[in-house]
Amino acid sequence: MELAVQASSITEVQADVIVVNLFKGVQTPGGATGAVDRALGGAITRTIARGEFTGKLGETVTIDTMGRLPSAAVVVVGLGPAAEFTYDRARTAAGAAARQARKAGAGTMATIVHGAGIGGLEAARAARATTEGTTMGLYRFDRYRTSDADEPKHDVQKVIIVEQDANKARLMEAGVRRGQVLARAVNFTRDLVAAPANDMTPTRMAEAASELARGLPLEVQILERADMQRLGMGALLGVAQGSAEPPKLIVLHYRPAQNRGGRPIALVGKGITFDSGGISLKPGEGMGDMKMDMAGGAAVLGAMQAIAELGAGVEVYGIVPATENMPSGTAQRPGDVVRAMNGKTIEIISTDAEGRLILADAVCYANTLGVGAIVDIATLTGACVVALGNHASGLVANNDELANAVIQAGAEAGERIWRLPLYDEYKEQMKSDIADIKNTGGRPAGTITGGYFIGYFAGNTPWVHLDIAGTAWRSDKDYGEWPKGPTGVGVRTLTHFVLDYSLSV
Ligand code: BES
Ligand code: MN
Ligand code: ZN
Repeated sequence: MELAVQASSITEVQADVIVVNLFKGVQTPGGATGAVDRALGGAITRTIARGEFTGKLGETVTIDTMGRLPSAAVVVVGLGPAAEFTYDRARTAAGAAARQARKAGAGTMATIVHGAGIGGLEAARAARATTEGTTMGLYRFDRYRTSDADEPKHDVQKVIIVEQDANKARLMEAGVRRGQVLARAVNFTRDLVAAPANDMTPTRMAEAASELARGLPLEVQILERADMQRLGMGALLGVAQGSAEPPKLIVLHYRPAQNRGGRPIALVGKGITFDSGGISLKPGEGMGDMKMDMAGGAAVLGAMQAIAELGAGVEVYGIVPATENMPSGTAQRPGDVVRAMNGKTIEIISTDAEGRLILADAVCYANTLGVGAIVDIATLTGACVVALGNHASGLVANNDELANAVIQAGAEAGERIWRLPLYDEYKEQMKSDIADIKNTGGRPAGTITGGYFIGYFAGNTPWVHLDIAGTAWRSDKDYGEWPKGPTGVGVRTLTHFVLDYSLSV
């Protein structure tokens, strides 16, 4: 999909469908929406008067232009109450409007930048939000469909961002480019997560990382089972031993052209390409959803793409331990004791608490690279879904400054993150009768004890853990920039974190 900024009036632009907006409760549209309303002889005003459109956030109405404008149809999108407007709401509106424009048959759509006029937002940031919302909102995964479904098959080929003020339009250009890079990285990650586990194997994930590195300033290294054995990664190997698919440890390395200094950052993502639970087998119902258990790893790959494309000023490692978690005659058993790369021993209570095991070795590996900060991201616990549902990711950390930086990056991205405490008392739950630590701590505080387990292997390195079990996949309905399905959550948070971090050192 092509994106262009055009300095002109929305009433003059050549596109199949144009998008304008309205705050909630406005009876007579002003600005660009007012200009379109006048060209249509008051059609928008009458739609509002009839009560057909209220301006609720993400609400849309499509109006035929009857040949009074170069475009065939106008989509009006609601922005919600003016007093509550944010960049994030600009994304929501843009996503909803873009899908509606596609429904209305748009091959080319033009849109104003939500919030840049009466909304009072900064031009470049608002343009980024509109671009992200549009590109993320139009995401669709139909690689596996061969026949017509109910949905329209055509795609929006071109999006024109329209701004009447030429100076503002120039400022918006940079925001649009950045938004495009971020949203494309999100959609890349979504494709990896949506792909079924029979295709998205650890091998395929490693190939995707290698393909990614080919066109970008990224070095890639794939560690094989023999490398893991040599390095003593018993926790990762223990999870992998039940599967016929060979495990891969993906290591991407970004080195900035101009390093601003400081130690490298490690981004570590859980890459369980299918989580059956292993010998501690999950119930059959909904088990297929566990193809998405590599969403953290996919988010790291997407973030590395955006980081390399945007040219961050700090050195970054993207580390993804990738394996299946399967039951078989060679699978590890509850009660087994394994030894991680740093020599610590782990008692396996549940083979279904596998994410923390593979991350333990990946975090140990990160520590051998001399990194100054580790951020891990994982669909780690069902407990996080219970605690926060689908609208916020959980965070556990051993360092307040780093935790705040990641939460701040999430806010910048429009991804909600909620921190949970890591009080010493929780650590008692993880004491083993036979080994240094056990891999589950019972039902209470499951997200915290899961996080604590990973942090145990991070040692003294500043570390943050993100639990995206509830946010990596949307199963309810399309909403704003989040179509049903994989969200690509974490890609933009991690990218903003790295970009901002590079400024702080
Ligand atoms: N991949 C799951 C967690 C998960 C659950 C992700 C729901 C997405 C949606 C993880 O490997 C797991 O099985 N966790 C166990 C841990 C328990 C055995 C301590 C869980 O949450 O039940
Ligand atoms: Mn599991
Ligand atoms: Zn899992």
